[in-house]
Amino acid sequence: MESPSLTKTIHLLLLSISIFFFLLELTTASPPPSPVHCATDNTYNCTVTNAYGTFPDRSTCHAQGVVYPSSEQELIQFVANATAFKTKMKVATRFSHSIPKLACPGGSDGLIISTLHLNHVVNIDNDTMEITVESGITLKALIEVAAKANLAIPYVPYWYGLTIGGLLSTGAHGSSLTGKGSAVHEYVTEMRLVTPAPASMNYARVRVLKVGNPDLDAAKVSLGVLGVISQVTLQLQPMFKRSLTFVTRSDEDLAEQAVKFGHRHEFADLAWYPGHRKVLYRKDDRVPVNVSGNGNYDFIGFRATPTLAIEINRFAEDTVEVAKSADGKCADSLLTTSTLALAAYGLKNNALLFTGYPVIGYQNKMQASGGCAFGSEDNLLTACPWDPRIKGSFFHQTTVSIDLDRVKDFILDVQRLRDLKPSALCGLELYDGILMRYAKASSAYLGKQSDVLDFDITYYRSRDPMKPRLYEDFLEEIEQMALFKYNGLPHWGKNRNLAFEGVIKKYNESKAFLKVKDRHDPDGLFSSEWSDQILGLDGSVIVKKAGCALEGLCICSEDVHCAPEKGYYCRPGKVYNDAMVCTDVNSI
Ligand SMILES: Cc1cc2nc3c(=O)[nH]c(=O)nc-3n(C[C@H](O)[C@H](O)[C@H](O)COP(=O)(O)OP(=O)(O)OC[C@H]3O[C@@H](n4cnc5c(N)ncnc54)[C@H](O)[C@@H]3O)c2cc1C
Ligand SMILES: *[C@@H]1O[C@H](CO)[C@@H](O)[C@H](O)[C@H]1NC(C)=O
Ligand SMILES: *[C@@H]1O[C@H](CO)[C@@H](O)[C@H](O)[C@H]1NC(C)=O
Ligand SMILES: *[C@@H]1O[C@H](CO)[C@@H](O)[C@H](O)[C@H]1NC(C)=O
Ligand SMILES: *[C@@H]1O[C@H](CO)[C@@H](O)[C@H](O)[C@H]1NC(C)=O
Ligand SMILES: *[C@@H]1O[C@H](CO)[C@@H](O)[C@H](O)[C@H]1NC(C)=O
Repeated sequence: MESPSLTKTIHLLLLSISIFFFLLELTTASPPPSPVHCATDNTYNCTVTNAYGTFPDRSTCHAQGVVYPSSEQELIQFVANATAFKTKMKVATRFSHSIPKLACPGGSDGLIISTLHLNHVVNIDNDTMEITVESGITLKALIEVAAKANLAIPYVPYWYGLTIGGLLSTGAHGSSLTGKGSAVHEYVTEMRLVTPAPASMNYARVRVLKVGNPDLDAAKVSLGVLGVISQVTLQLQPMFKRSLTFVTRSDEDLAEQAVKFGHRHEFADLAWYPGHRKVLYRKDDRVPVNVSGNGNYDFIGFRATPTLAIEINRFAEDTVEVAKSADGKCADSLLTTSTLALAAYGLKNNALLFTGYPVIGYQNKMQASGGCAFGSEDNLLTACPWDPRIKGSFFHQTTVSIDLDRVKDFILDVQRLRDLKPSALCGLELYDGILMRYAKASSAYLGKQSDVLDFDITYYRSRDPMKPRLYEDFLEEIEQMALFKYNGLPHWGKNRNLAFEGVIKKYNESKAFLKVKDRHDPDGLFSSEWSDQILGLDGSVIVKKAGCALEGLCICSEDVHCAPEKGYYCRPGKVYNDAMVCTDVNSI
């Protein structure tokens, strides 16, 4: 028999070893698997999934076949042929990083149009500072190509394994309240969209949407239902540098500071560790290129990491979960976050070392990273932490944008809940805390409706869908509070099903969006069961069955939606009484 303290020591030792390996900088990487697998000739009888290998309902989906256009001309032919046969279609991207079921064509015998090879640079105009690219280009390649021409994309998601077509379609963003804000789609000046067309037009047509065309407000954030984005033109800026300093402070005055801070620094963001009452403030501003500094930000969580370390890390997390040890999670998160802080999160002042704040570097070296997705190895000795082929990280993500005017009250509510049992929230610190990022109101019909702060919360998900999570009542309450009490907008490319219940009513111009959809694709060939559900056209995202609330497929209304046999019953929220959450009645 091991003594509890010996077990604890072994646990921390294991965790330390895995964290140590996370800090190694490897030069090789095994990229993630393709989201599309076909049983016949790599072309027919296919399944499609996302980068995590499973959708929120734990399914994958089926399609009749896949095509890989490498030019707009080929793309038109594929869309025309499928339209002539009234075949459902959907774009899949190189890695398919969206969590919800966006990648599936309708039915089970649709056509997958992969943009894997539709990834060329079409034009860079030095005078107008515009770049035109095919939609399958990765954010990594886009940033690099622009930088070669001395140009910068001002605001982007932090993970560069996304494609421009995919990130636009879900409204993806970085963090800023400057100019038009942090959503990439705000900087689109033209899109070329291939849509179905009548027989008289040979079944497909290219729609060229320029600034001023109201259809562009639909196409900028389209969830993939308007047709295939063939090319995108973006307005760039002259290359600049950034100066970044991370500061850790108490979260005592977070509710007061959160909005102000966003107005103070162009690239501000916040990472909140509520269990430890701490906030990591990112003070990050533009500086001229002649300020010295050649720093870069290669975020540790996105690097190629030894598979063994990822698996040990997951094992450690599973262990504290099974032991129902909230304090264990707090100890682990303290170790993890303090090591990350010592390693400056992956920041370096020069090619070799972190020597201190501020870190000053070119925009293209500071804005995004994602080494684990790019490499030529195929041995799985390294991976991204969430690679479905290994026993790695597996999580839910609740990502909701809240109107700046309501952010203060939301944070106060979360703090009130946290104060009931601080350790209940340590688990999410193992996933870098609550990442809070700024974005602005958009003219895009499915874009942000007002200036917002986006709360990105990542947390443990069991491999067993029927297994409840430690203190999941706290996270479910925060989720329902953000979505319903504070009327937040869920990120289209993240979240669990319940977040999308009735979501379309939150968009003023949803009717305008649906009109454009009817005009571009009258037969709904690019629509699927999922897109019809979230657009409020047909069916519901909610799946009521035993255990459904554990996976966010429903909000519990009966105990059976939780796990009564394991002590988890459906109970009202503790701060937001309208919430209904799966509560472990033995551990309040
Ligand atoms: C590690 C990680 C970090 C992330 N960081 C951020 C972040 O910082 N900020 C943020 O906002 N989001 C972030 N995300 C979420 C991400 O932005 C979205 O999931 C994004 O949509 C995924 O892009 P993708 O290229 O993988 O597209 P997919 O998920 O493959 O596609 C999304 C949708 O767009 C459609 N689509 C794709 N290309 C086209 C096209 N050419 N024409 C028509 N439809 C198309 C697809 O059919 C699908 O419906 C992150 C995700 C991960 C995994
Ligand atoms: C499709 O592939 C599956 C295996 O992945 C196989 O069981 C099935 O018979 C195949 N269907 C057709 C029509 O070939
Ligand atoms: C056209 O579509 C039909 C039906 O989906 C398919 O069987 C055929 O292979 C396609 N032809 C081409 C050239 O893509
Ligand atoms: C644009 O500028 C870059 C460097 O500033 C240069 O390499 C490239 O040739 C220029 N392109 C054109 C078309 O002038
Ligand atoms: C940078 O260049 C500007 C003029 O373009 C000049 O005013 C400034 O002093 C320079 N700064 C440094 C640090 O060299
Ligand atoms: C949407 O409507 C609400 C309420 O009518 C209004 O406050 C808000 O400004 C509108 N947003 C946009 C983007 O039009």
